[in-house]
This record gives sequence, structure tokens and C-alpha cells, in this order.
Amino acid sequence: MAFHPLQHALFIFISITIFASLNFLLSSNEKSLNFQTSKSQNSSIKSRIIELANDQDTVNWMKKMRRQIHENPELAYEEFETSELIRRELDQLGIAYRWPVAKTGVVATVGSGSPPFVALRADMDALPIQELVEWEHKSKIDGKMHACGHDAHVAMLLGAAKILQEMRETLKGTVVLIFQPAEERGTGAKDMIQEGVLENVEAIFGLHLVHKYPTGVVASRPGDFLAGCGSFKAKISGKGGHAAIPQHCIDPILAVSSSVISLQNIVSREIDPLDSQVVSVAMINGGSSYNMIPDSATVAGTFRAFNKKRFNALRERIEEIIKGQAAVHRCSAEVDFSGREHPTLPPTMNDVRIYQHVRRVTAEILGEENVKLAPIFTGSEDFAFFLDEIPGSFLLLGMLNDSVGSLYPPHSPYFTIDENVLPIGAVIHAAFAHSYLVNSGKLS
Ligand SMILES: *[C@@H]1O[C@H](CO)[C@@H](O)[C@H](O)[C@H]1NC(C)=O
Ligand SMILES: *[C@@H]1O[C@H](CO)[C@@H](O)[C@H](O)[C@H]1NC(C)=O
Ligand SMILES: [Zn+2]
Ligand SMILES: [Zn+2]
Repeated sequence: MAFHPLQHALFIFISITIFASLNFLLSSNEKSLNFQTSKSQNSSIKSRIIELANDQDTVNWMKKMRRQIHENPELAYEEFETSELIRRELDQLGIAYRWPVAKTGVVATVGSGSPPFVALRADMDALPIQELVEWEHKSKIDGKMHACGHDAHVAMLLGAAKILQEMRETLKGTVVLIFQPAEERGTGAKDMIQEGVLENVEAIFGLHLVHKYPTGVVASRPGDFLAGCGSFKAKISGKGGHAAIPQHCIDPILAVSSSVISLQNIVSREIDPLDSQVVSVAMINGGSSYNMIPDSATVAGTFRAFNKKRFNALRERIEEIIKGQAAVHRCSAEVDFSGREHPTLPPTMNDVRIYQHVRRVTAEILGEENVKLAPIFTGSEDFAFFLDEIPGSFLLLGMLNDSVGSLYPPHSPYFTIDENVLPIGAVIHAAFAHSYLVNSGKLS
């Protein structure tokens, strides 16, 4: 997507319409930030950001970084070379950073160095997937692939870093750039928060590439957005013995079977049909012989919900049901929800005010017609941990483009991105941060 100078005139026109409708929206909600600003005053800032991102050298530089990271995918907490590349580029740009944070993470700052602070986040890790796309920059590492677009997320945030650094004199505060490890593991964001990356930060923004929308289109929604994702594993214990004399045994296989059936009843019988929740049992283990009742059996699965309260209620019900069904069959059960291998991710819930701000900024850049209301989605994101701590918003950035074949969903071995999205992502990051800082002062 290119931004032609002609479009700038269009922005001004569009933004007048947006402000009219935004005023209407805001007046219905007292708590909303007063984000309307005089567009004519600040259109030069926006044009400058767009111009910097579309500079051919900058675009080529972002592509080059993305391809380099794509060729050398690294899994969670092993993003050593990716982290090194980021630090090298930040050094080149003269941007200060803190490192290591959560093993491989990098936290850079651009701007005045004083409050307000606003954060932008990119994840760095790849997946244990064998790339099946044949192209010049295919993964050089067998069994590892950037199949979720995190290579592009890093390149776009570095693009934003460059833009913001060039415009640092105009920043009304400090932008914190968070390069995070281990999103796919679900623990990276949490680890970074524990190392204090959100200290003094007022708001945070993050985005993810998706093939569901064409390049140049974005989507998000206020409030409940992505599902919380939890896993459970339960061990049901009875008493093993010969299957021909069941009266001398306590059968955990039967207890596990009843649990599975009962777990299905939570969503079908206890949840509002208009509310979306999932409980799936995906694993049953027990026994090793056709005529021996085992001492114990395990059952494991995943559950999802879009709202924190309902998510927690679902978790409680799963435990109750497994323990209850075990008791019915004279067994005992231990239910485990923790596990660092499969950590629980809270639902991703966008702050309404920050969502509206992102909406306004993206509409000015891409045009109102290219900013969609996304439906809730059963995928999960560890960005949710940041949103648990401070207000923020998560955005889906479209990159479907028939002419480059970017038709595959994330985590597919055929996953391909449309690199034309790189400057768009950089602009959105930079424009969000810049205008957030301009408007933040009006809060107090
Ligand atoms: C789709 O990709 C082609 C080839 O790179 C490009 O010319 C075109 O502008 C892209 N479409 C969009 C909407 O960016
Ligand atoms: C527009 O941007 C300029 C330069 O950053 C800033 O001084 C001014 O306060 C902004 N105006 C509004 C209305 O946000
Ligand atoms: Zn992923
Ligand atoms: Zn991802």
C-alpha cells in the first residue's frame, strides 16, 4: 500500500467526518478521553510519519530485517540473534535500550525521557513448524518457522522506532518500545511485566498480522476481543486390578469417561447460548492392557471464554465437575490449571478509550472504510497480560493479498505475509504513540 500525496487532502476531508461522528460517540460516554484535536494543526505530523515510513530506503530496510529474521527463526526464550539484530539496529538509530529483559527481550525508549510514557509491543518468537513455502528467504532452520508473522512485527516496530527517533523533537513524552520473547509460550509478556517494563507506562498498543483482512484494512473492537485460554489436566485415581473382578477395583476409566460427558454439559446446559465459551477435552490417558483396570487415568483439555469473570467461573466449574464425577465413582481427583508449558492466558479486553483513540488514528491513516469492527475471536494472545495491568488496545492488521498468496492462517506451514504491510504497521505504531502523547496531557 502506497500513500499518495493526494490522499493527504482526503485525510483532512475524512477526518472532519470522523470527528463529527466521534464527537457524537464521545458525548455518550463521559469517561472517554477528549481525543479530538484540530486536524489541520496536526495533519503535518501525520503526513510526516507517513512520508518517513514510505521512504524507499526505510521500506527496503524493514523488508531486509524481516527477511533476515524469517530465515533465522528462534523459539521462545531463544531469540538471541533476533534480539541482537534489534539491538544493533537500535544502536544505529541512536536509541537507548535496556537488555536483557526476560532473557532475550529488549526495552527501548524514544523521546523526552519524562512522562507521559506510552508503550508499543512486538513479539519476537517463531514456531516449531517446518516451513513448506519455497521462496528465496525460506527458513534456514529445519523444524522452525516464523509462521505467525512475529518477524514482521519486529520489523514494523523497528520501523516505528526509526520514525519516532527522527521526530523525537515533537514527542510530548516518551515512547517505550517493547520487544518481547515467548509470546507463543504464553509467558513472555508476564515475565517482562515482572521485570518492570510497565512501570510508569500509561497505555499500551500492540498489533497482529492477519490474512482475514486485505492489506490496508485493520480491525479491532472495544472491550471483550480475544478469548482467554486455559488448560487443565486432571489425574483421577482409583484402585487397579483384574478387569474380570471389577468389584475389587475402583475404576478410574469410568470416572474419566463420566467427567468427559459432564464437561460437555457446561457449555450446552449452563452457559447463555449467546455467550461464546469452549470446553474441549483433547487427551485421555489410562491403562495399558485390555484386562487390567489401571490405578489412575488422566484427562486434559482446554477452555476459552471472552470475559474475565466468565473465564474464571468456567475454570471453577471444570474443577468442580471433575472432582464431583470422580467422587460419584469412588475415585479422587487432582485438577491442575497451572503448568508453565501450557499457561493460562486471560481474555484480551481492549480499553474502550484507547480503542477509540486507535480507531481514530487508523481511520485518519487508512480511511474510515478500511477500519472494521472485528468479531470476537477464539484465538488468544499473551498481550492480554499487559492489558490486565494497564489500559491498552490490540489491533488486527490485514495482509491478505492475492497477488502474493498470503492466504494462509497463522501457524500454517504455508503461512506467507504481504510485505507491503510493513510501512503500514510502522505508521500505525508511530502515529498511535505520537498522538497519544499529545493528547495525554489533556487528561489531568
Ligand atoms: C499486493 O501485492 C502487490 C505485489 O507486491 C502490490 O503491487 C499491491 O500493491 C499489493 N496490494 C496492496 C493492497 O497493498
Ligand atoms: C499538534 O502538534 C503540535 C506539534 O507536536 C503540538 O504542539 C500541538 O499541541 C498539537 N495540537 C493539538 C491540537 O493536538
Ligand atoms: Zn502464533
Ligand atoms: Zn502471533
